[in-house]
Amino acid sequence: MSLFRIKRCTALTLYCVLYSPCSLLCNFSLSNIFLPACNLILALTLTAPLLAACIVLSILCLALLIRVSKDRAKLLQRGLLFRWPILSVDPGHISPALRTTELGPSLDSLVSITPSLGVRGGISDLESCILAALAKAASARELPGTQTHIFEFGTCTGKTTHHLALNAGHLARVVTLTLAPDQHTTYQRGKGDDPRDTHAALKESAFTRFYYSGTNVEPQITQLFGDSKALDITPHQALYDLIFVDGSHARSYVESDSRLAMHMLKPGGLILWHDYRGPWRARGVWSTLNALAQSHTLVHIKGTSLVVYTN
Ligand SMILES: C[S@@+](CC[C@H](N)C(=O)[O-])C[C@H]1O[C@@H](n2cnc3c(N)ncnc32)[C@H](O)[C@@H]1O
Repeated sequence: MSLFRIKRCTALTLYCVLYSPCSLLCNFSLSNIFLPACNLILALTLTAPLLAACIVLSILCLALLIRVSKDRAKLLQRGLLFRWPILSVDPGHISPALRTTELGPSLDSLVSITPSLGVRGGISDLESCILAALAKAASARELPGTQTHIFEFGTCTGKTTHHLALNAGHLARVVTLTLAPDQHTTYQRGKGDDPRDTHAALKESAFTRFYYSGTNVEPQITQLFGDSKALDITPHQALYDLIFVDGSHARSYVESDSRLAMHMLKPGGLILWHDYRGPWRARGVWSTLNALAQSHTLVHIKGTSLVVYTN
């Protein structure tokens, strides 16, 4: 029998033994002392555990609140209540260019980017830096005279396309695919796709002029328009050093784009996906990547929503 039950029994016994005779002998002067005392003991015995539970709960809530406010970004990335299926690693794990020194980021990670101010459907500044540094590192690895090839699923404003071309160097070629505003009817919604993802994909398919338009890296960029499920990958097989999958976030599209990306990747190349943000946001990305991680080694980059695969 638990301590609490023993205490409660004792109190009840006391109450019965003392209260009943006392109420019978209500004129007995001692009952004036016993009755309030018994009531107090009973009340304390019954309410004390409740009170203790409330105090413990309040302390736990306070501790959780402090932890959340101290490390909000990190917790959002890692999941508050459980570990995410894809392991999180530091950016330096992906490429030596992203390793840090005792002074902070190494000079190999020095890149040119524009800040994410008022950009539609874009990526964070840290994510831009990482992608740009990976594009730069991919070019640095190439043998003299050979080209770096980069592919992007989902151009949107073309801000990332611009960063990729700008940082990969003048020998690099960037191919980027997007759905044009007059091609919305070609979008092939899958059975299990979340209607919100379809809506967002079509809403973002609004551009025909891009961030890189008119810049001096434009000649390095090939802009493709069309539905990614209809992309003929014959000329793209095993060609790319770096592939960024950031098209429609509907599950059937993430699955299809990922499958194509696997065929388009060169040995030793990298595929990056955007928007791996936990089970409540961009669910198509979340479920597809978690499923893919069962057969392929994927890692999530800490502090970002990027997931990486290398073959
Ligand atoms: C999240 S935005 C891409 C953001 C961009 N990568 C960046 O970093 O700035 C998604 C893009 O995917 C494109 N998209 C959506 N559905 C598509 C489809 N079915 N085929 C090709 N592109 C699609 C949209 O037009 C939009 O440009």
